[in-house]
Amino acid sequence: MDIISITGAAYIVAALLFILSLAGLSKHETSRNGLTYGMVGMAVALAATIAQTVDVSEYVDDRGLVIALLVAAVAIGAVIGLWRARIVEMTGMPELIALLHSFVGLAAVLIGWNGHLEGSHYELDSLNNIHEAEVSIGIFIGAVTFTGSIVANLKLSARMKSAPLMLPGKNLINVGSLVLFAILTVVYVAAEAESGLQNAILVALTVLALALGWHLVASIGGGDMPVVVSMLNSYSGWAAAASGFLLGNDLLIVTGALVGSSGAYLSYIMCKAMNRSFISVIAGGFGIEAPAGDAKDYGEHREIQADAVAELLAGASSVVITPGYGMAVAQAQYPVADLTAKLRAKGVDVRFGIHPVAGRLPGHMNVLLAEAKLPYDIVLEMDEINDDFPDTDVVLVIGANDTVNPAASEDPTSPIAGMPVLEVWNAKDVIVFKRSMAAGYAGVQNPLFFRDNSQMLFGDAKDKVEEIVHHLN
Ligand code: TAP
Repeated sequence: MDIISITGAAYIVAALLFILSLAGLSKHETSRNGLTYGMVGMAVALAATIAQTVDVSEYVDDRGLVIALLVAAVAIGAVIGLWRARIVEMTGMPELIALLHSFVGLAAVLIGWNGHLEGSHYELDSLNNIHEAEVSIGIFIGAVTFTGSIVANLKLSARMKSAPLMLPGKNLINVGSLVLFAILTVVYVAAEAESGLQNAILVALTVLALALGWHLVASIGGGDMPVVVSMLNSYSGWAAAASGFLLGNDLLIVTGALVGSSGAYLSYIMCKAMNRSFISVIAGGFGIEAPAGDAKDYGEHREIQADAVAELLAGASSVVITPGYGMAVAQAQYPVADLTAKLRAKGVDVRFGIHPVAGRLPGHMNVLLAEAKLPYDIVLEMDEINDDFPDTDVVLVIGANDTVNPAASEDPTSPIAGMPVLEVWNAKDVIVFKRSMAAGYAGVQNPLFFRDNSQMLFGDAKDKVEEIVHHLN
C-alpha cells in the first residue's frame, strides 16, 4: 500500500475520533473520554500528515532536513502548549483559548498568502479562479479571527475595557467592510495572476479583514463575551477549513468544518440561553445601542458577618448556592464542598443553581464543583431551580454578580436586559459574598445588593466560607 492510501485511512480514523470527541464533550460525565478521543485523533492526524509530507515533499531534496524542520516545529509547539496548559489557572482558560484561536487565524492568513505567492498553474482558467477565491476567503476569515481573538483575549484578561466600543455608524462599518471584501475578491480574481494589482488588492483585503475583526469584537459588551468566544471558535474552524482547501488537505477541511459548525451551534445555544440575537452578536453587536448611564440610586446595602450567616444556615431547612466567577477566583469550591457536607449532615437540603454563563467559560462552575467532588444530583441548571427560590430559606450568592442581577428582567434600559438570570431575590434571605460593591463583568450595578432581604458578606469568598464552616461546629 502506498503512503497516500495509508494517510487517507489514517485521516478517516482521525476524523471519526474527532466526532467521538465532540460527542463525549457534550456531557460532563463523558468529557474525559471526549478529550482522550480528541488527543488520540490529533496524534494520528499529526503522524499521518508528517509521514505524507516527508514522502511526497517536492520542494526539498533533502528528506532529513524536512523531517528535522517538522519535528522541530511540533516539538516547539508541544513544549509551549504543555507549559501553558500546566500553568494556566481555570479563570485564565477563556483568554488562553482566545489566544489559541488567534493562532489558527494567523496560520490561515499565512497559508492564504503562501497560496497567493505560489500561485496556481492549472490549465483551466476556472480552476485558477477557484484557487484565487480560496486565497481571498481564507485570508479574510483568518484575519478576522486573528484580530478578533486578540481583542477577546485582551477583554477577557481585563487589559482592555469590557464595555462595547460604540463608533458612530458601527453597523455601516461592518456591512460596508463585507461589501468591500466582496468587491476586492472579484477584482483580485479578475486581475492578471501574479500582477502588482493582485498583490496590492490582497494587502488591502488583509488590512480590511484585520480591522474588521478588531472592530467586530471591540463592539461587543462584556455580558455577551461568552458568545463571542464560541463564535471565534467557530470562525477558527472555518479558517482551518479554508486552509484545508488551499493545502489540499481533506482532514483539515473535515476538522475545520466540525469545529466551525459545532462552534456555531454552541454560539446559537448560548444566544438562546442569554436571550440574545445570534445575528446581532455575530454582526458585532448589530442593533445594540450604547448603554444608558447607570447612576441610579438604589439606597443603602446591609452587611452581615460570618458567624451570623452560620446561625442563619443552621436554622434553615433549604439552602441554594449560586456560584459565579468570584468562587473561581477565590478557589472557594473546596470549603463550599465542606460547608455543603456539614449542612447536609444537619439535615439541611442544599442544592446548587448554575447559570449557563456563570464564570468565564461554558461549564466553568460545573468543573469547579466536580473538582471538589460535589454530587452531580444536587447541581441544577438555572431553568431547573428558578421556580424553587420562593420556597428557599437562604441563598448563598458566592462570587456571582451579573448572573443574579434582577435588572436583567426588570430594567429594559439595562445593557443585560432580557438575559435570563437566577431569580435569587425571591428567596427569604440572600447572602452575597464579594469583596466590595464593584460591578460584575458586564460593568452594571446590581440592585440585588440593596434589596431588603439581601445582606453583603464582604471579603475573599474562600476565607468567608471557611469562617462559616468554622462557626458551624
Ligand atoms: P461576574 O458578574 O463576573 O462577577 C463576579 C463577582 O465576583 C464580582 O462582582 C466580584 O466582586 C466577585 N469576586 C471576584 N473575586 C472574588 C473573591 N476572591 N471573593 C469573593 N468575590 C469575588 O460573575 P458571574 O455572575 O459569574 O457572571 C459571569 C459574567 O462573565 C457574565 O457577565 C458573563 O456574560 C461573562 N462571561 C462569561 C463567560 C462564560 S462562557 N461563562 C465568558 C466570558 C464572559 P468584587 O470584585 O467586589 O469581589
